[in-house]
Amino acid sequence: MEHEIKKICCIGAGYVGGPTMAVIANKCTDIEINVVDINKDKIALWNSNDLSKLPVFEPGLKDIISKRRGINLFFSTLVEEKIAEADMIFLSVNTPTKIQGIGAGKAQDLKWIEASAREVAKFAKGTTIVVEKSTLPVKTAESIKKILDSSETNQDKIFHVISNPEFLAEGTAIADLENPDRILIGGESSDAIESLAQIYLNWVDSKKIIRTNLWSSELSKLTANAFLAQRISSINSISALCEATGANIHEVSLAIGMDKRIGSKFLNPGPGFGGSCFQKDILNLIYLCNFYNLNEVADYWEQVIKINSWQQKRITKIIVEKLFGTLTNKKIGIFGFSFKANTNDTRESPSIHICKDLIEEGAKLLIYDPKVSKEQIDYEFRSLVKNESKASGCWELKSSPYEASENSDAIVVMTEWKEFKNIDWHIISSNMRRPSWVFDTRNIVDKEFAIKSGLNFWEVGS
Ligand code: NAD
Ligand code: UGA
Repeated sequence: MEHEIKKICCIGAGYVGGPTMAVIANKCTDIEINVVDINKDKIALWNSNDLSKLPVFEPGLKDIISKRRGINLFFSTLVEEKIAEADMIFLSVNTPTKIQGIGAGKAQDLKWIEASAREVAKFAKGTTIVVEKSTLPVKTAESIKKILDSSETNQDKIFHVISNPEFLAEGTAIADLENPDRILIGGESSDAIESLAQIYLNWVDSKKIIRTNLWSSELSKLTANAFLAQRISSINSISALCEATGANIHEVSLAIGMDKRIGSKFLNPGPGFGGSCFQKDILNLIYLCNFYNLNEVADYWEQVIKINSWQQKRITKIIVEKLFGTLTNKKIGIFGFSFKANTNDTRESPSIHICKDLIEEGAKLLIYDPKVSKEQIDYEFRSLVKNESKASGCWELKSSPYEASENSDAIVVMTEWKEFKNIDWHIISSNMRRPSWVFDTRNIVDKEFAIKSGLNFWEVGS
């Protein structure tokens, strides 16, 4: 018989933990949900009265937080207490790529997942369902179970570990959570699976809930991300061929996307995929394939990442070439720093890599992004640009695209924020030094308007 869930604890108040728990709290008002994190500053922001200060920007999130916070949704650092009270615990901690040691650069760093599993082992009471929400390598559930069952003090505790990967995309997280394509639950205990399914059944159609074994669930998450990223690398590879041949990538995307077997989504060319997950999850898949001696399979997926980096380098090279082969002392306006529109997340943003290369070529950048702070950009550059003092003196954050165009030689549109579609290119053009260029890496600019305003124009794939 499934266990009735009255209290949930989610470990990790990040881009997944925060929005996911907010939506569950909104749909299941009789369940108390506690989101806990070791990061005090982040928890303070989640509890801020000023909702524009929430650590995650997602359309629709503020409304839910204002409705449920303090009622059945709580954010705190009370890790021990909230674990002890919970019937069900979601592990929603970060799992970035390892930067040192065995598997560095490919395998996922599981230190945060292990630490949270140890906390659960220590503080949980009675029967507890532990849900893997983080994206994890295949067979991690087995390790979590070993940690949970290992402690001598755990004889009177019962743990069920199930996998429930999250498929939300940032920028549309709330809509994705409210209307998911599917809910995937993998595990051995059918009671535990049904307990979680009951929660989702409050708003998700039963036909969308898939039950699998643990390993299929873990592998499906990595595979879904690999397939999505593969489409982007495929279309980006063809964008280069379009530029060389005179074909137009939009016409090609439209033509192939109308084939129902291919489908129209995820065929937008751009500066390469960013975000905290695609690269990390493919690297992890590659690591797994190598581990199982499937080297050809590993090479196949590696190519998706290579094309992604190549696309970014290719765009930088085009910018340098068009600006007479040198960027020394040239000002370049960067429109957008987040990895996609409608998020304040900058992890693995293509902007970081392209900006870094432009800085190393000698350019001074004037950056504008509607949601990304100066501190965040500083943090991203500090770890990347070789000469730190050079990095800090080479860019400024501006408060509008118009300010970011003053005395510049070029504008590079990096993120598809809606406001960039409606820019007054006459004003931009009059602010710039001649000859002036616009490089549209997202193909969202009103091209005719820009050209009519006296600007030279380049866009990806045509
Ligand atoms: P994040 O970095 O935004 O949040 C993780 C949080 O966990 C951080 O606030 C961190 O302080 C906290 N944490 C780490 N160790 C802890 C511990 N021992 N106790 C308490 N708190 C701890 O990460 P995220 O983007 O939310 O991603 C979380 C997981 O979800 C990752 O595995 C990721 O691959 C997966 N995922 C992310 C997305 C996405 O869109 N970001 C989508 C689907 C799946
Ligand atoms: C992605 C997946 O879409 C989610 O299903 C998954 O849950 C999530 O990763 C995860 O595991 O973290 P996310 O990275 O938030 O979500 O955003 P996407 O919409 O997938 O965009 C990723 C990157 O690809 C962005 O840089 C975006 O600009 C780029 N992209 C996307 C393109 O260049 N072209 C496209 O057609 C689509």
